[in-house]
Amino acid sequence: MEKCDSAKVISIINWKGGVGKTTCAVNIAAEWADRGSNVLLMDVDAQASASAYIYTEEMYKGEYYNPILEALKSRRDEDVAKNIAIKKSIFGIFWDAIKDDMQFSIENGIKKSLGGLRKLDLIPSTFYLNELEQDITTASSSQGLSPFNILRLGLNKHKILEDYNYILIDCPPNLNLVTLNALFASDYYIIPTIPDQLSTLGLPLLIRRLQTVKKRRIELDGKDPKLLGIILTKISHQLRGIQTSWIEVQLPWMLERFIEDKLVWEKAKIFENTIKETVDIQKAMEESKPLCTSKQKTKEIRTRYQSLAKEIIQTIFT
Ligand SMILES: Nc1ncnc2c1ncn2[C@@H]1O[C@H](COP(=O)(O)OP(=O)(O)OP(=O)(O)O)[C@@H](O)[C@H]1O
Ligand SMILES: [Mg+2]
Repeated sequence: MEKCDSAKVISIINWKGGVGKTTCAVNIAAEWADRGSNVLLMDVDAQASASAYIYTEEMYKGEYYNPILEALKSRRDEDVAKNIAIKKSIFGIFWDAIKDDMQFSIENGIKKSLGGLRKLDLIPSTFYLNELEQDITTASSSQGLSPFNILRLGLNKHKILEDYNYILIDCPPNLNLVTLNALFASDYYIIPTIPDQLSTLGLPLLIRRLQTVKKRRIELDGKDPKLLGIILTKISHQLRGIQTSWIEVQLPWMLERFIEDKLVWEKAKIFENTIKETVDIQKAMEESKPLCTSKQKTKEIRTRYQSLAKEIIQTIFT
């Protein structure tokens, strides 16, 4: 593979479930790959939604879910199950950093050219990620490793950043150690949110919780994982008054306060390209394709994601 300088790493984060993190991660990654960039999608959510989407549910179950479950049925084979996770999933990248080993296999663990796109790769997740909290906590107390710096160390160990222009990390709906590791390893992060009261009011909490990790990264090498912006997702067609008010008044006001208080990057924005609620998302998912290669009639929403992907790049480079 041709070598790139060093990938821009971007995490898609929100502690709230079902706000469109995975859909955004897959489709933005796909748009960039479609435009010629080398893109790696990293699934760090134990639910493995991005993996089942883009690697296809059938392949994911056949290669990961079923063999691990089979091995776990007989307790003797617990090592066999764990080995699959170490050799072929994102769990292995964390594992190698903790154990100072090189068990993760680039050849078997990076799935190439997915979703009909030559330049879109994926490192799948497994439910073993649920065990990491414990492993990380133990390693940080016994080996003096920073509990946030494990993923970053693993990516460097396997020289993964050299092969890509962009790495997008699809995070789980929580702010536990795996998500905080994703942020620590990132240059930027993006928050998708639904424009409703609960999601909007959760934002200050989210932004504040991330500060500790950002500070620790600055202490390490001066790099600050920056908020690029907020993606508004699943907007209903007939915007109700209250939704309009969240979008046009409360949210911009909130972002301005974050910027003023220096909690986020001064260029952080609410992206102009918002994502409407549409069944077309589901149609493309069922086909295991991102919108840009889907055979379904999904032109309108695809165009939105295409413009959003461009808008994100512009925010990074201007
Ligand atoms: N714009 C949209 N219109 C309609 N449905 C959508 C849209 N975006 C996402 N969905 C659907 O909403 C569900 C949740 O989306 P998605 O998995 O992307 O959210 P998530 O934030 O990653 O969820 P989780 O927190 O569980 O990881 C999925 O079934 C997806 O197909
Ligand atoms: Mg998800």
